[in-house]
Amino acid sequence: MTDTPAAKQPNPRSLADLAPDEVKSVVDRYTGIHNAGSERRKEHYRSFVNHYYDLVTDFYEFGWGPSFHFAPRRRGESFEASLLRHQRFLADRLALKPGMRVLDVGCGVGGPMAALARYAGASFVGLNNNAYQIERALAHTRDVRSLCSFIHGDYMQIPDGDDRYDAAIAIESMPHAPDKTAAFREILRVLRPGACLAGYDWCLTEDFDPGNAEHMRIKEGIVAGNALPEIARTLEIGTALRAAGFEVVESGDRASASDPTTPWYRALQGRDLSLRSIPRTPIGRALSNRVLRVGEKLRVFPDGAVAVSSLLNRTADALVAGGKAGIFTPMFFLLARKPGPSGD
Ligand SMILES: C[S@@+](CC[C@H](N)C(=O)[O-])C[C@H]1O[C@@H](n2cnc3c(N)ncnc32)[C@H](O)[C@@H]1O
Repeated sequence: MTDTPAAKQPNPRSLADLAPDEVKSVVDRYTGIHNAGSERRKEHYRSFVNHYYDLVTDFYEFGWGPSFHFAPRRRGESFEASLLRHQRFLADRLALKPGMRVLDVGCGVGGPMAALARYAGASFVGLNNNAYQIERALAHTRDVRSLCSFIHGDYMQIPDGDDRYDAAIAIESMPHAPDKTAAFREILRVLRPGACLAGYDWCLTEDFDPGNAEHMRIKEGIVAGNALPEIARTLEIGTALRAAGFEVVESGDRASASDPTTPWYRALQGRDLSLRSIPRTPIGRALSNRVLRVGEKLRVFPDGAVAVSSLLNRTADALVAGGKAGIFTPMFFLLARKPGPSGD
């Protein structure tokens, strides 16, 4: 695994900060690393993931809000309420409370840690490889500033000492890891003995058949549009956690906690009656592409904005297909404990 250290990555950059001709070159660099295959994606994981989030963070925030994850949804529950419940599920399993120090591994733009700091009163340290997301996270956690701080760094080499945290969460950040066992080993190192990691990972389910061409096409679509080195099978998560030294307390796919009429991928289909979902409807997609195309010509949007939007539309289709076929889940729950006395 060789790549530019996180601390040496360029300053925070959003799509809007990039020069007009730069967006296209970042899209090309991202695509080049992706197309070079899984080993190269692992080797260049830092820049691969950074390019991706430089390009998509503004789109994600606009279309999804400050929490960059999926959630199982109950009948009649709003999209936002389902995200909150999914986050609180982790806080409850970890028994988070005031005075605890929690590492949020791959904290995105801080939506989950802000919500959980408000809910549980625990202190959070958000770790993120992407500088622009940390800049956004500082804004999203403003009202809980005394409980939230950040480290700009790589979770494969956490820039912090041993035995420092009372708990850790990792919400949909581990899918980017070039080596899951090594990533879990780093988290284990910074947890105090007896402390737990809880999170959700992206996995291929037991129904995924590598000999099925359609399954493989869907998997490739998900990998291509999300800066992933590969996608693990559900069984691999427990294996990697144990190999890293964790005791697995609980694991399982939370997708089945969705009401069948509101599957986790529903929000990607633009089937909700909300302003946020408009860009995800077929008409909304066509309209956004038209606006971006005209904006590119008028130099209101940078060259490459249409390419980013199209990439996200293609990946949304692949995620929906994976969910519908039951071969993919973005919510494989894991709760794992660092061996040793809890010290409570
Ligand atoms: C799908 S987003 C989830 C963000 C956040 N957990 C949430 O639920 O809103 C994945 C996050 O993992 C971060 N990430 C990926 N690889 C990383 C690495 N090697 N070190 C630190 N953060 C990383 C990304 O920058 C991004 O913020």
